[in-house]
Amino acid sequence: MKYRIGPSILSADFARLGDEVKSVVAAGADIIHFDVMDNHYVPNLTIGPLVCEAIRPHVQVPIDVHLMVKPVDRIVPDFARAGANIISFHPEASDHIDRTIGLIHEHGCKAGLVFNPGTPLHYLDHVLDKLDLVLIMSVNPGFGGQKFIPEALKKLAAVRQKIDASGRAPGDVWLEIDGGVKIDNIAEIARAGADTFVAGSAIFDTKDYKATIAAMRAALAAY
Ligand code: DX5
Ligand code: ZN
Repeated sequence: MKYRIGPSILSADFARLGDEVKSVVAAGADIIHFDVMDNHYVPNLTIGPLVCEAIRPHVQVPIDVHLMVKPVDRIVPDFARAGANIISFHPEASDHIDRTIGLIHEHGCKAGLVFNPGTPLHYLDHVLDKLDLVLIMSVNPGFGGQKFIPEALKKLAAVRQKIDASGRAPGDVWLEIDGGVKIDNIAEIARAGADTFVAGSAIFDTKDYKATIAAMRAALAAY
């Protein structure tokens, strides 16, 4: 199984963002997770397409944009133009989920659907064949540094089964986890079926990003 680690720049030092993204990529990050919050869908306000465009030249890895905004569609082309590779959104934030997935694809990006801790998985029923990524939130969205909600493990296992049963080629649909991921729980999360791990505070709140990412990979290799 190929595992990907995606540092969430929500916990980076924004005054030095270019250096921060270069440092985590040099430290072994597979993707950069980019949290977009609008003070409407979630109670916090972060970064938009301008910042995505600003970091784009500094990293070669995919930029994984997690939209916590409502409405979704108007901002999708802006992020595609700003160099996003993956764009994920919450089903509650779009009136027409299938249309939003199509819009993301039309703009040349991979499309992901995000499930809050209280969001049922039935939103996957008629769109899984079109998705490139399913993101399970293990905290309520809006802030970094929250505690992992264990119920997310059951949800991961349920989505893993759905992906495996879908007939899609192995690895075609990424299964991502976001919120409270640490060195000491990452193996358990992988066992539940995740292959892509977002970690904000667990990486950026440490001094040595390379050692932290290496410890995460060692935990994944050992389980
Ligand atoms: C929460 C964000 C997460 C967050 C993760 O709304 O979507 O990406 O930054 O932060 P940690 O890893 O600190 O829980
Ligand atoms: Zn996120």
